[in-house]
Amino acid sequence: MDAIELLLTRQSSPRLVAPAPDESQLTTILNAAIRVPDHGGLNPWEFIVSSGDGLDKLSQLFVKAAAADGGDEATLAKVANMPRRAPMVITVVAKVVEHPKVPEIEQHLAVGCACMAMQQAAFALGLGGIWRTGGLAFNAQLHQDLALGANDQIIGFMYLGTPAVTAPIKPTKSAENFVRYL
Ligand SMILES: Cc1cc2nc3c(=O)[nH]c(=O)nc-3n(C[C@H](O)[C@H](O)[C@H](O)COP(=O)(O)O)c2cc1C
Repeated sequence: MDAIELLLTRQSSPRLVAPAPDESQLTTILNAAIRVPDHGGLNPWEFIVSSGDGLDKLSQLFVKAAAADGGDEATLAKVANMPRRAPMVITVVAKVVEHPKVPEIEQHLAVGCACMAMQQAAFALGLGGIWRTGGLAFNAQLHQDLALGANDQIIGFMYLGTPAVTAPIKPTKSAENFVRYL
């Protein structure tokens, strides 16, 4: 796929089914993630890949996290099902370090770029993905169970797989409304 075509037609796929990215596709997706601009070359990221049994583990961690937050039965059932919405979920974590020139926001942005690159790579490979967050990204119990540090932040749960339906490409928006020139 042409690079400009990719940039202008990328879109999310909320409904994802098997197959998940295979080993080689996953390598490509992760290599795209770590190719992004990274001020100071800090590599401020970690990618926690869940597929197969890993999705059951993630589901259990989601339930434990929502329960710690006081979630009711309906909420627990909902979060239990979340990781089953795709054959692979990659939890993308910003591992923030103290740095004299690279503030936390820039490290978060770099990891956000990594999320975007992963989705674009999946799209270019004929796969699909959607970047999700929600309250669980900020849930202290989940952070603890994933062994995240005090300064770490989940920037996204990247759901990856094969689009369940071939959605029409959404119309192109015009950037004109969001631009001004000096
Ligand atoms: C930081 C971030 C968090 C997001 N979290 C969610 C989410 O929790 N649930 C959701 O449905 N979409 C979420 N989205 C939006 C989707 O990823 C997606 O961009 C949106 O559905 C629009 O679709 P499109 O990418 O095809 O334009 C998030 C996007 C970003 C950048």
